[in-house]
Amino acid sequence: MRKKSKNLTSKESEKIIITAALPYANGPIHVGHLLEYIQADIYARFLKLQGKDALYICASDMHGTPVEVNAQKAGKKPEAYALGFWKEHQLDFASYLIHFDHYYHTHTPENRKLAEYFFSEIKKKKLIYTKKMNIIYCNSCQRSLPDRYVRGTCPYCTTAEQYGDVCESCGSVLKGIDLLNPKCALCGKTPLQKESEHYFFKLSAFAKKLQQWMSSSHLQPEVQHWLQGWMANGLDDWCISRDAPYFGFEIPGSKEETGSVKYFYVWMDAPIGYISTTENYCAHKKCHWEEYWKHGKVHHFIGKDISYFHFLFWPAMLMAMNIPVPELTVHGFITINGEKMSKSRGTFFTAKDFLKLYPAEALRFFYAKHLDRKVIDVDLNLEEFKALTNNVLMGNVGNFCYRVLTFAHKNYGKVGKIAAEKERTAVVHQNITIVQDSYAAQDFKSAVKYVLQIADEGNAYFQMSAAWKNPSDPQSVAAVGWCVNLARNIAIIISPILPDFSRKIFDALGAKELSWNDIEFSWKGTVREPAKLVQKIEAVPSSPIFPLRLVVGKIIAVKDHPNADSLYLLTVDLGKSWGKKQVVAGLKKHLTPKQLLNRKAVFCANMKPAKLRGEMSEAMILAADDGVTVAPLEAGKTALGEEVHVDGMENSTQGVTFEEFKKLVLLVRGGKVFVEGKKMTTPVEDVIVHGVKEGARVY
Ligand code: 2FM
Ligand code: ZN
Repeated sequence: MRKKSKNLTSKESEKIIITAALPYANGPIHVGHLLEYIQADIYARFLKLQGKDALYICASDMHGTPVEVNAQKAGKKPEAYALGFWKEHQLDFASYLIHFDHYYHTHTPENRKLAEYFFSEIKKKKLIYTKKMNIIYCNSCQRSLPDRYVRGTCPYCTTAEQYGDVCESCGSVLKGIDLLNPKCALCGKTPLQKESEHYFFKLSAFAKKLQQWMSSSHLQPEVQHWLQGWMANGLDDWCISRDAPYFGFEIPGSKEETGSVKYFYVWMDAPIGYISTTENYCAHKKCHWEEYWKHGKVHHFIGKDISYFHFLFWPAMLMAMNIPVPELTVHGFITINGEKMSKSRGTFFTAKDFLKLYPAEALRFFYAKHLDRKVIDVDLNLEEFKALTNNVLMGNVGNFCYRVLTFAHKNYGKVGKIAAEKERTAVVHQNITIVQDSYAAQDFKSAVKYVLQIADEGNAYFQMSAAWKNPSDPQSVAAVGWCVNLARNIAIIISPILPDFSRKIFDALGAKELSWNDIEFSWKGTVREPAKLVQKIEAVPSSPIFPLRLVVGKIIAVKDHPNADSLYLLTVDLGKSWGKKQVVAGLKKHLTPKQLLNRKAVFCANMKPAKLRGEMSEAMILAADDGVTVAPLEAGKTALGEEVHVDGMENSTQGVTFEEFKKLVLLVRGGKVFVEGKKMTTPVEDVIVHGVKEGARVY
C-alpha cells in the first residue's frame, strides 16, 4: 500500500508565488548567486510536480547609485546599461535550467505605479513623514554621495581608507558622515555636508506588529535570533528617498514638498518589484496579483545579507498596505575551496565561465546535496564537486537508470511484464514519501539522500537478478520490468533537481512530462535508447602555486639589531590568524624607525624561521630596490592578516627558505608589482610601491 504523505497545503488549487531576490542589473550572475536561484527553482518545480498552482517569478533590480555611476563610466544611459544585464541574466539562468514563469525588471510602468501607490497610501496613513538631515555632497562631482561612495578613517578603530557603510577592519556599521577625514570615492576630493529634506518610513510604529508576526510564523531559528537582537536595539525610521542624480523613480510632488526632486531609494521599489512582476504576468494570463498576494501564499528565498530588508522593512510596508507578510527562507554564502570567491585567486566564477568547465546539472545536484534550510555557508570544494558528480550522480543514480533502460531497450524494446516484488516495492514507496516530505520541508539534502538510497536498492536488485545471463528467462524479463519502473519513478522524484536528466528518461519512455501522481510500479510500454544522462567531469583545473604566502601586516615596534649595524629588529602584527612575529630587516641604511613605525606592508609569512646574527627572524618584509632607493611594498587599505595574491595563482602552504625566495623575480612596473607579468593584489586593492624607478626588483 502506498502511504499517503502530508499535503503541503490543503487545497491543490491554492495559488503560490515563489521568488528569489532580484539581482542588481549591474553585473553578471556568478556561482554565488546561483545557489539561491537553484534552491528556489527546486522548490517551485517540486510544488508544480505536486500539482500546485505555483509560479516562480523574479526580475532584475535596475535602480540605485552603482547602476547610475557604472553606466556613466561605460558611456551609456542607465536604462540601456541595466537592460543589457537584464537580458544577460535571463540567458544565464536558463543555462542552469532555472525556470521562471516570469522574469521582469523593476524599471517598468507597473513598478512605478505600484511604488507611487504604496507611497501615497502609506503617507495618507501618516506613516511617512519628511525630516531634514545632513547628507554628503561632492562639489567637484556635483553630486550627493551615498555612504558607499565616501571613504575615510573609521571613527571606532581609526583604520584609514574605509567605505562609509561599514568598516572592513572592525566591522562597525557606519554612516558616511561618521567617517573622519572623508573623501569622495569617485574623485578623491573632500566633500561637504549639506542639509536636505527626506522622506522617512515610520518603521518604529511597527515594532509590536512585527513582534507578533515573528512569533506566529515559522522562521528559521538563526533568523529568529537576529531579529530579536535588532528589535531589542530599537527600530529606527527608514529613509526611503535619495537626492539627484539617481537612477530610480522620481517621487511625485517631492520638489514642492522638500525643495528638491527626490527619488525612491532602490530598496523601496525593489521588493515592490515582486508584486509588479506578478502583475505583469497576470496581465498576460488573465489573473490578478491579489489572488496570489492577498488570497494565496508567497514565499521569498533570500541570502542572509539582505535579511534586514526582508524581515523588517518589507513586512512593515506590507502591513501598512494590509497585504499578508510572505514566508521566507534564508540561505548562507558560498565559498570556493574554503575561501571567499576571489578574482585574484582565480575562483571568481561567473555563471558563464563555470559552465565552460562544468555541466549545469552537476552544480544543481551539488547545491541540492548541501541545502537543508539551515542558514549555513556552503563550500563549493571543486574536488568534492568532481567526486560527487562522477561517483554519486553518475556512478549511482545515473548508472542505474542508464544501465536498466539500455538493457531493456536492447533486449526487449519494451516493458511487458513486471515482477511483483511486494516488499521491495513497499520499501521504495516509503522512501519516496520521505523524499516528498523532505522537499516540502526544503530539506533537499535529505531528498537527495533518500533518492540515492532508492537507486542503491535498484542497483542491488538488478545485480542480483543477473538478467544479462539469460535475458529471455521470464524472471529476467519481469525483474527488468520492475527496474524500468523504478528508473521511471526516480526520474519523477529527482526532476526538481535534475530536470534534463529526467527529461531524457521520459523521452526514452515516450512520456512528455510526468507528475508525482504518475509514480507507479505498473507502467508498461516501449523503451527507446536513452541519451547519455550525466556528463563526467574529467579534471578540475587548478591554479598554479606561488611559492610565497604573502600577508598584509603592520610594523608595531622598531629596534636596532644588537649585533649588526645595518639591521633592524621589527615586531610586526600579521592579524588574527598569524599573530605577532619578529622580523630581521636590512633597512637601516634606507629608512628611519619613524618612517617604518605603524606602517602597513607586505610580509612573507611562510619563511622557515632562521637566526640572523643571533636574532630569530620569523617572516620577511618585502621591499623594492632600484639600486638607490629602497621602499617597502604597500597595501594601506587592506586589513591585517589578509593574503596577497599573484593573479590567478594559489599561495603555497609550505615553508620557503631565503634561497628559494631569491630565485623569484618580482618587478615594479607603473608603481605596481608583477611576477611573470601577473599583478600582485590583495582582496581590496593592488599592491603599490612609491619612489622607486621602473623595473626595480623586489626582495
Ligand atoms: O541584494 C541585492 O542583490 C538586491 N538587488 C536584492 C533585491 S531583492 C528585492 F527586495 F527586490
Ligand atoms: Zn567627487
